[in-house]
Amino acid sequence: MVSGTNDEGAKTVRTVFGSKAFNYAKPVSLIRELVRQSTGPGDIVLDFFAGSATTAQAVMELNAEDGGDRRFIMVSSTEATEDEPDKNLCRDVTAERVRRLNASDDPKYADLAAPFAYLRTREIAFEDLDYDLAPKDAWAALETLHGLPLTLYDDAIPWNAHEGDGVTLVMVDRFDAALLEWLRERSRQNVFVYAWAPGQLARELGDVEVEIRSVRDTLVRGFQQ
Ligand SMILES: C[S@@+](CC[C@H](N)C(=O)[O-])C[C@H]1O[C@@H](n2cnc3c(N)ncnc32)[C@H](O)[C@@H]1O
Repeated sequence: MVSGTNDEGAKTVRTVFGSKAFNYAKPVSLIRELVRQSTGPGDIVLDFFAGSATTAQAVMELNAEDGGDRRFIMVSSTEATEDEPDKNLCRDVTAERVRRLNASDDPKYADLAAPFAYLRTREIAFEDLDYDLAPKDAWAALETLHGLPLTLYDDAIPWNAHEGDGVTLVMVDRFDAALLEWLRERSRQNVFVYAWAPGQLARELGDVEVEIRSVRDTLVRGFQQ
C-alpha cells in the first residue's frame, strides 16, 4: 500500500527551503514507492513536469537506501509570465531543491548526493543556426552525443578538450599553435575534433592526421533524426 499526502509534500518543501517555495508538491514517500516499484538501480527517471523536484528527492533517497545509481532528468518550465518576467522556477526551485539536498547537514538528508548539470533549452530558428548557436551550446550537445558527462565550456580559451574514458572530445573555436602540440602528444585514436570550419582547421594542422568534423553538420544530423 502506497500512501503519502499533499500535506507531507508541503512540509518537506518547507524543511528543504525554509519557506513555502512551491504549492501542491507531491509527497516524497508516494513518488519514492512508485519509483521503487518501477525502476532498477541503474535506471534513468524522467519527470517532464518536475515542479519542485519531488521526483529528484525520491530518486536520491532510494539510491541512498539501496546503493543504487539511478539518475534523473527533471524538466520544467520557468513559469515566467508578463507580470513576473524573471520568474525561474527551474533555477530557483527545481534545481535548488537538489542543490540544497546535496549540501544539507540535516541528518535526514545527510546521505543524499546527486551531482547534476543544470541546462536551459532555447529555440533556435533553423535559418539562424550559424549566428545563434553559441560554442557552449554546441559543447553540451557534443558531449551528450559522445556520452560524456557534461562540463562547463570555457569561452576564454581557443579550444576546449574533454578527455573521457575511452573517448576524447575537442572543440576548436579558434586555432592556436598549442593545439598542434597537444594533438601531437596524443595517440589520435578515439580523439574527435570538431570545428566550425573543418577544412580550414585541417590546413592549419598540416601533417597532424586527425579526422575533423563539422560542428554544425554533426548537430544538424544528430538532432534531425
Ligand atoms: C503539478 S506541478 C508538478 C509537481 C511536482 N510533482 C512536485 O511534486 O513538485 C507541474 C509542473 O509542470 C511544469 N510545466 C508546465 N508546463 C510544462 C511544460 N510544457 N513543460 C515542462 N514543464 C511544464 C510547471 O511549471 C509545474 O511546475
